[in-house]
Amino acid sequence: MPPKVRVAANGAIMATSFAVNVTALGKTVEPNTGPETGAPAAHTPPSGTGTSGTGTSDRLDDATLDQLAAELLLDPSVRSNPFDHYRQLRDNDPVHAAGFGPLWFATRYDDCHTVLRHPDTAQPPTVLPEDPEPGAEGEGTSLFGRRDGRDADPNVAKSLLRLNPPDHTRLRGLVSRGFTPRRVEQLRPAIAAMTDAVLNDLAGAGTGDLLDLVAFPLPVRVIGELVGVPEPDRDQFRSLVRAAATSLEPGITDEQMAAAAVAGTEMNHYFHALIADKRVNPGDDLISALLAVQAEQHAESSDGAVEPLTDYEIVATVILIFAAGFETTTNLIGNGLWCLLHNRDEMQRLRNDRSLAPAAVEEMLRYQSPVQLDARRAVADIEVAGRHIPRGSWIFTLLGAANRDPARFDDPEVFRIVDRPTPVLSFASGIHYCLGASLARIEGQVFFNHLLDRFDSIELVAEPQWRTTLTLRGLEALDVSVS
Ligand code: HEM
Repeated sequence: MPPKVRVAANGAIMATSFAVNVTALGKTVEPNTGPETGAPAAHTPPSGTGTSGTGTSDRLDDATLDQLAAELLLDPSVRSNPFDHYRQLRDNDPVHAAGFGPLWFATRYDDCHTVLRHPDTAQPPTVLPEDPEPGAEGEGTSLFGRRDGRDADPNVAKSLLRLNPPDHTRLRGLVSRGFTPRRVEQLRPAIAAMTDAVLNDLAGAGTGDLLDLVAFPLPVRVIGELVGVPEPDRDQFRSLVRAAATSLEPGITDEQMAAAAVAGTEMNHYFHALIADKRVNPGDDLISALLAVQAEQHAESSDGAVEPLTDYEIVATVILIFAAGFETTTNLIGNGLWCLLHNRDEMQRLRNDRSLAPAAVEEMLRYQSPVQLDARRAVADIEVAGRHIPRGSWIFTLLGAANRDPARFDDPEVFRIVDRPTPVLSFASGIHYCLGASLARIEGQVFFNHLLDRFDSIELVAEPQWRTTLTLRGLEALDVSVS
């Protein structure tokens, strides 16, 4: 008997660190644990409804679609292998209004794109005047938004990722110059040297977990240098960021939320101490650059015209850039190698023709996106694909589903290294488009080129398991042997 996931009448789905009360259902969802692979089996549609349906007569009914949506959020076995659920939602109701809360699920490329770029959608934790007060009945229904400001990780709450204009515009303008495609292209030689250093470690070991040996150390070194985190301090952030990033996941428990808060506070203390040190001993790094801007603003602000950056803003910005700079890129490397190891012909094509490296990285990003889920709140009534989404609704944009939308990608369920005309949605879209997209792409291209240069043979030692997180998709471990 599979374990039951209860979507309680007053129970919480924790999403992006805030409680959603799933008020309408009180229903029990039986996760579909599927065959031996751990892959969830396709849902059997109610008789006579068919499975393929794009037309209304074939459509799965709303209760089944709600169950698929709830399982995506709540069932670990589905979260670790969500693609069949994505397909069924996309084929049957691509902009699905869940019956269990003010939640919508967008699974088509064009609709996700529209939601992410819409002027009337905002980042969590946007709170609207009509939302219930903290502690009031139904307070948690304002998904991602709690008026008491309780947040698993205060750094996340005040970072670029969670801000709306004008604060977002002001902060992003300060940091974006450091991450333009041209600027990060200049880092290619330094990234190549760092890649060779970690590949030396892998060669020395001969076998081991690629995530430990390479996929974590490389991006943390790259972003640590850029941000200004001293080398001996970097290792501790792997577990701290992992714990804090849990707050981005739907379905987290109270314990995970508490652990995320502890990790967030620890990082906060560390970075406040670091900026105090950098103020006295500046370096050639992002923290020192932001401190210089702050000092200039203070000098100019005697007339009150300029609102200087606060230390809190600097800390939140730097933590986000540092954490986002390695957690996702670690998964680009791990997920990307998983793609090659499970598609040996494609690996051989890349080995034979390195000009394919940029297309290979795009295909890795598309096929196993390190970020699968993004979310927005409607701050006014909006229309998406002819559906009326009321103000206050939360919309999950399932980037991993959009990346496999057959309307945009030929043979979307197949990993094929080809130039595809549609850009991947893995870095989202609109004003929050990933600041580090160019950097991540260069790290990926350099890494896979050097890996294939260095080793004639790369073999899996054990079949890797996917983590059960949905927002950030990655492997538990990737045990390989190389020679
Ligand atoms: C493969 C690797 C990466 C993936 C898949 C990825 C994905 C994303 C996504 C989907 C967003 C948008 C979130 C939203 O709309 O709410 C985002 C934002 C962001 N990313 Fe990345 N990212 C990656 C690497 C990096 C790197 C290397 C950096 C380091 C500079 C970085 C820094 C950021 C920042 C600062 C934001 C917030 C931007 C804003 O809100 O204006 N990311 N990323």
